[in-house]
Amino acid sequence: MRRPVVAGNWKMHKLLAEAVRLVLDLKPRVVNSHHCEIVVAPPFTALKTICDRLNGSNIKVAAQDCSDQPGEGAFTGEVSAEMLKDIGCSYVIVAHSERRQFYGETNASANKKLRAALGASLIPIYCVGEDLAQRDAGLVEQIVEQQVLEGLSGLTSEQVSHIVIAYEPVWAIGTGRTATPEIASSVHGLIRSRLAKCWGREVAEQVRVLYGGSVKPENIQALMAARDIDGALVGGASLEAESFARIVNYIGYDR
Ligand code: PGA
Repeated sequence: MRRPVVAGNWKMHKLLAEAVRLVLDLKPRVVNSHHCEIVVAPPFTALKTICDRLNGSNIKVAAQDCSDQPGEGAFTGEVSAEMLKDIGCSYVIVAHSERRQFYGETNASANKKLRAALGASLIPIYCVGEDLAQRDAGLVEQIVEQQVLEGLSGLTSEQVSHIVIAYEPVWAIGTGRTATPEIASSVHGLIRSRLAKCWGREVAEQVRVLYGGSVKPENIQALMAARDIDGALVGGASLEAESFARIVNYIGYDR
């Protein structure tokens, strides 16, 4: 049985005091929510403080990105996976569609970051998903398959089993337009079948595949009831404790 993950991606939001307020507000609302792993991904500037504030709680912390360089070195502006692990992060988001769209992230760079993250014992949340033009052109399977196979290229079954994949159709991110549970479920099934083909059925059954794109308290239950959906990566609705807690707490009821 895969343990669901509900992760909140704060993107470039929250000054430090606001970030602290948000987690202090969130903590009591999810203190008894043991049916899933709860993850928040604050901006870099708030990470250490949030890790300290959440230490010993049931909420884990993710970074939104990490360097593709393992170890240390002359890479101005980069933050290594080891540095993130060192301050208390457990997860890191890799290749979010906004990083692909605006900062030149590719499947190849994602592959290096996944290796760096795994090397530092962080759990990567690897983002894949097609944009609207690709969906309209009937390329969903091809694009997602390529993102999965190139992103995870050369990784061992053991490494792949630790990775969380987030399927986030770009047309659903921040648009209020959620993929139907049927659409999401079919792509999740595709991802799992490709994982099975390349890394074996056992590994494919272990990997958590999250859905992301306009997840809200109102649609989480239907999404979670769908086959092969193991949780959610939430953007906008994770910026307030009340809505994020409602999403966390909807999960599990139908399982
Ligand atoms: P959204 O963002 O929930 O605001 O659509 C999701 C994401 O980008 O991870």
